[in-house]
Amino acid sequence: MKNEKFPAKAGSRQKRKKILVTGGAGFIASNISDAYIQAGYSVVVVDNLSTGKKENINPKAKFYEADITDKKQIAQIFEREKPDIVNHHAAQIDVRKSLADPIFDAQTNIIGTINLLENCVRYKIKKFIFASSGGVMYGECGKVLPSEKQIPRPISPYGITKHAVEHYLDYYSQTYRLKYVAFRYGNVYGPRQDPYGEAGVVAIFCNRILANEPINIFGDGEQMRDYVFVSDIVNANLIALKKGKNEIFNIGTGGTKSVNQLFYELKKITGYSQKPVYRPPRTGELFKSSLDVKKAQQKLGWSAKMKFSEGLEKTFGYFRASEFERRHRKTPDKIIRGQAPKRHRKRFCELL
Ligand SMILES: NC(=O)c1ccc[n+]([C@@H]2O[C@H](COP(=O)([O-])OP(=O)(O)OC[C@H]3O[C@@H](n4cnc5c(N)ncnc54)[C@H](O)[C@@H]3O)[C@@H](O)[C@H]2O)c1
Repeated sequence: MKNEKFPAKAGSRQKRKKILVTGGAGFIASNISDAYIQAGYSVVVVDNLSTGKKENINPKAKFYEADITDKKQIAQIFEREKPDIVNHHAAQIDVRKSLADPIFDAQTNIIGTINLLENCVRYKIKKFIFASSGGVMYGECGKVLPSEKQIPRPISPYGITKHAVEHYLDYYSQTYRLKYVAFRYGNVYGPRQDPYGEAGVVAIFCNRILANEPINIFGDGEQMRDYVFVSDIVNANLIALKKGKNEIFNIGTGGTKSVNQLFYELKKITGYSQKPVYRPPRTGELFKSSLDVKKAQQKLGWSAKMKFSEGLEKTFGYFRASEFERRHRKTPDKIIRGQAPKRHRKRFCELL
């Protein structure tokens, strides 16, 4: 491991609980890291920056640029940091990539996770929080929404890896008493989601609207998804620090929105004037996916709070501000002409 990728050791007086967050440069786990830091925890981020970005990492977190599959590096990080809790979000998240390269998918999502779990046992980690997926776990959803009791039927290598890790968690808890919580998320959206990836339809639509480009909808747009805002996901991860023992929870809204509804809601919010371009349906795409979330409500006291329209407004607001920042970074003179919102003006004025 290179020296510059290995930050200085923390002071010995540190007493705050330490959480090692994998994937903390990515969309969901960077938001979780922010909340943990705000709640007074000390956070160590491990990320190989394959899809994550350095600028997402909270400046108060300690950062290791490392790959979760690297046995030596991960062992060194555990030895050095001795975290109390591990929150594991690093993953290969692209379903299509998992079909094209199931070996890479399994190496990251299964072998990488086992590498972490082995160190959790060695260093007596108090709890392991895992980001599983509800969207790919249950297959096509009927009138009755799937609860955690429904037998999983993942149909992609990505879904299989998520389910396999749940089995490993059960094994490690039974054999080594490692405590865990696994969250099966619905379709998460919100600030910092990658608008260039395959996943993340909300981020992709926001990006296209900002560029005033046409928006493609595959199929008739009536596909239903359980869209859950990232702040609700963050709350579940805060609760999991204290509640939940060796259990799996569905984390979604328990409702659905169609892609058409999403499109027209965003159109209303943004004033986007173009019509959607309907393309042939994608093979293998589910028609409906949603989650029964009663267990999380009953056992964790968690439920999704964010209204869909408000979540979309916040997400679009984030992308608009990021786009503004990107465009004006090299031309700060425009800010002087009063084109920037106040909160950005200050930051850009510092560049002048
Ligand atoms: N976004 C969703 O709707 C959704 C739904 C269900 C589950 N999940 C799960 O939540 C987690 C986070 O997803 P996200 O949407 O924030 O994706 P993301 O791509 O933004 O975040 C994943 C992070 O993991 C890092 N990473 C990837 N491979 C790594 C490796 N080998 N070693 C170290 N770091 C590595 C990436 O650089 C990135 O920062 C994933 O485990 C994903 O499967 C996401």
